[in-house]
Amino acid sequence: MIRNRAISFLISLSLLTSTLSLLSRAQWQSASNVESFSHNKNQISVQSGKATLHVNILAEDLIRVRLATNGVFPPDMSWAVVKKEWQAPQVNVTDSQKEIIVATNELSLIINKKPLRLKFVDKQNHIINEDEPTKGMSWNESEVRVWKKMPQDEYYYGFGEKAGRFNRRWTHMSMWNSDIPAYDADTDPIYQTHPFFYGVNKGKAYGIFFDNTYWSSFDMGKENRSQYSFGAEAGEINYYFFYGPSPKKILSRYTELVGRMPLPPRWSLGYQQSRWSYPTETRVREIAKGFRDRTIPCDVIYLDIDYMDGYRIFTWNNKNFPNPKKMIDDLTKDGFKIAVIVDPGIKADTAYHAFKSGNAQDVFLKYPDGKPFIGKVWPGECAFPDFTKESARKWWGDNFSALIESGIRGWWNDMNEPSVFDVPTKTVDPDVLHDDNGLKTGHAKNHNIYGMQMTRATYDGVKRLLPAERPFVLTRASYAGGHRYSSAWTGDNTSTWRDLEMSVPMLLNLSISGQPFVGADIGGFIGYPSGELFARWLQLGVFTPLMRAHSVINEKNKEPWEFGDEFTNINRETINLRYTLLPYIYNVMYQASVTGMPAMRPMMFEYLEDGNFNWNQDQFMFGDDLLITPVLTQATTERNVRLPEGDWYNYWTGQKYKGGNDIKVAAPLNRIPFFVRAGAIIPTQQVVQSTSQAPIDPLTLNVYPTELQATSTYYEDDGISFEYEKGKYWKRTIGQWNSSQAITLTLSKVEGSYTPPGRMLAVKFMNVSKEPKSAQMNGQKLENLQRIENKREGWMFDAASKQVIVTFKDQKSELQLRVLR
Ligand code: GLC
Repeated sequence: MIRNRAISFLISLSLLTSTLSLLSRAQWQSASNVESFSHNKNQISVQSGKATLHVNILAEDLIRVRLATNGVFPPDMSWAVVKKEWQAPQVNVTDSQKEIIVATNELSLIINKKPLRLKFVDKQNHIINEDEPTKGMSWNESEVRVWKKMPQDEYYYGFGEKAGRFNRRWTHMSMWNSDIPAYDADTDPIYQTHPFFYGVNKGKAYGIFFDNTYWSSFDMGKENRSQYSFGAEAGEINYYFFYGPSPKKILSRYTELVGRMPLPPRWSLGYQQSRWSYPTETRVREIAKGFRDRTIPCDVIYLDIDYMDGYRIFTWNNKNFPNPKKMIDDLTKDGFKIAVIVDPGIKADTAYHAFKSGNAQDVFLKYPDGKPFIGKVWPGECAFPDFTKESARKWWGDNFSALIESGIRGWWNDMNEPSVFDVPTKTVDPDVLHDDNGLKTGHAKNHNIYGMQMTRATYDGVKRLLPAERPFVLTRASYAGGHRYSSAWTGDNTSTWRDLEMSVPMLLNLSISGQPFVGADIGGFIGYPSGELFARWLQLGVFTPLMRAHSVINEKNKEPWEFGDEFTNINRETINLRYTLLPYIYNVMYQASVTGMPAMRPMMFEYLEDGNFNWNQDQFMFGDDLLITPVLTQATTERNVRLPEGDWYNYWTGQKYKGGNDIKVAAPLNRIPFFVRAGAIIPTQQVVQSTSQAPIDPLTLNVYPTELQATSTYYEDDGISFEYEKGKYWKRTIGQWNSSQAITLTLSKVEGSYTPPGRMLAVKFMNVSKEPKSAQMNGQKLENLQRIENKREGWMFDAASKQVIVTFKDQKSELQLRVLR
């Protein structure tokens, strides 16, 4: 295979002295001297031998580099990029004998002429990134590769879903969506392809997005410690270069280019319960009752492959699910949403409606001679829809109507690498043709986007059929930009402490690769966790946007109450914590949908200047304000924490710490330690059994004081529809200000036309050491209460917890709350 040739080529590079390597090197060609160039608006065209280079300046900090090795560019199409038109920034082009300099207000690209090599520099003329001088941009028949110099102190992050450690320096990675159950730290590739990474050097970051869907690889100094490279077995050298210097700025630009996640339905942020499988209606009802009887909150129950008739997608097993609509209606009334698995393989059975209509509408993948591609998956022999074909996506989407009518609301897209059991490549044959937007190309080009296009067909189809609700799609395989359609989970992990620990860097790298809605199978998919491991995993799950427990078939039950009473109580408290924090979590996801900033953020992403955060990550930020320090090892009741600069509060004890320090924190079995940034206002709510159970009442604003002034934003909407796009939301700015006389909280007039059901606001001022004199709302004195009572306005001081609590009716108008010291 070409892939193996590429790997052996890379290996041979390190053996430059051997004749063999010289021979293989000889097949490679790198860009030669610049012969001419032209400049038109924001595009610079460079001729070098047969090759043509196009450099497009899209923004002050974003440059696209595209090379046609034979001078002919293929059609410019991308599955990832959504923003194609950019307002050209001011560009200065200067030409000298040695080089062409293309400068924006933020960076310059220096195009060296003899030979053609690229160098990006900042305004102080510091090199941000440069081509490796002997190879630069190279090609060998259809293969393409870019070599870069690798500074000794540069670190690399991102690359989407990668097992193993956080910093990818000195690793070699491939991109080829693969179904590899029980992967370990060295397994690569696995399910998803995100050819996007950050280089971070001396507190400054740049980003590179190599938008090539073929099998590709990234060698970050594993072959040769002074250079790194990325390339693909075919397709173009086509990459986007982003300049920070902050990683946040890069991600903001990247998600402007490839789009941002749509706001998910609020219920999908509740607790989700899955296993392979809950095989009968009786068992599904038992599980639902199991939650409600034990008052353990839960929003979603999943049906894995056994709900179907012989694994035929869009069907039911009528024996085990005699009346799905009735079952789902009842469960919906009880606050549950039901999600079903859908795999791409359509059973090749001439009596099966989806196989019949799929054939009639010509949606399946075929060889060039018109013979269908048939491969084995769970149902036996299957045909595979060509999701790169618009009419096939439409056909797929339309097939959801019956499931939607029966009440299903969650769409779990699995096996969509696609995984095929009975062929040597474990996927679709390489010579099978895809429509590829009318280009008619082979599987090699379309493999890595297959899963993404399946989620697109699912998302668009469900949205078309049920326009009043936000679709919730979960996927295993994806490509850059796939977050526009789906959330993602990290596939078939194992019930081990190692996998719990590894899930953190994996989810962090995936998050900063543009996919903010992520989670791992809580408790581990393969194997059986101890009560302790499950409890710790669930605690981490509070701070992964997707909080879903799952299990393999033929394993003992793993629901949160299956580990003995002590753990049932701990697990209930953990899920209660998730529901308490839902208003904050919803705000974090709202922010992700608007700005691209993910919920889970590596420490370096937020605090780049603190060099302690460059390597592995066992702590992370969740949104702007929470520092999560999970327990990831067995029998641990205390852990080290690196606090970044600033002041921090222990969420559980209220204790205040000075940042810029390493501290130890107690981590008893029953709770996950985490910290709140001083100046934050964390919105929380009452515990409910599901998000549909009751409106938020009271909405509590937990105010963590800072010496300075600080502001936050609070966002809310109906949680389910797209009406927020038309202005139906409830949004306000909340400011806090501390002085020696008073603590002041200002709530701006509410923006937007959504009005939540009438409710109380409870404001908790933390860390108040002395009983205040009084509290006022808009200048009017509030009653000093003995205790907080439902629907009663007033305030009280709780000396034990050092909190002042003020309650009053929430309203749209501007409010000013003052606590006089
Ligand atoms: C795959 C999925 C897993 C699912 C199973 C059966 O292994 O990754 O989550 O339970 O298939 O559908």
